[in-house]
Amino acid sequence: MICLGNICRSPLAEGILQSKLDDRFIVDSAGTGGWHINQPPDKRSIAVARKNGIDITGLRARKFSTDDFETFDLIYVMDRSNYNDVMALAQEDAHRQKVRMILENDDVPDPYFGGEQEFEEVYRMLDKATDAIKAQFERP
Ligand code: 4NP
Repeated sequence: MICLGNICRSPLAEGILQSKLDDRFIVDSAGTGGWHINQPPDKRSIAVARKNGIDITGLRARKFSTDDFETFDLIYVMDRSNYNDVMALAQEDAHRQKVRMILENDDVPDPYFGGEQEFEEVYRMLDKATDAIKAQFERP
């Protein structure tokens, strides 16, 4: 799960998806930017997750690394700008093929300069998107 800062959207996406999958699935998150490395998620992401029974307080921000193309089978990005940034780092088709927009054609809007309502909306979008991801994994 990739966003810009790895403190608002992608830690929420990580927490929500991991809560829906058993631990055979390793879910992680990172940011394309490095400003918040080692910081916990934004208080507003922690709050909206907690309201929905998910604890993301233990997560710490890290920067996306090209090693992630090898480590992970799928790389979900939150918006078109993350998509372009991650694709620019990919050196081979096999890596490019792992990258997808979590909402297929839409952006999960950056809520950083928003308020509680924007974080609620991000939660709702990610809840729906992660249901679709889970369904895809369960398909025979
Ligand atoms: P995120 O939100 O990409 O959803 O984690 C942001 C957090 C911080 C910044 C930008 C976006 N920032 O510029 O510091």
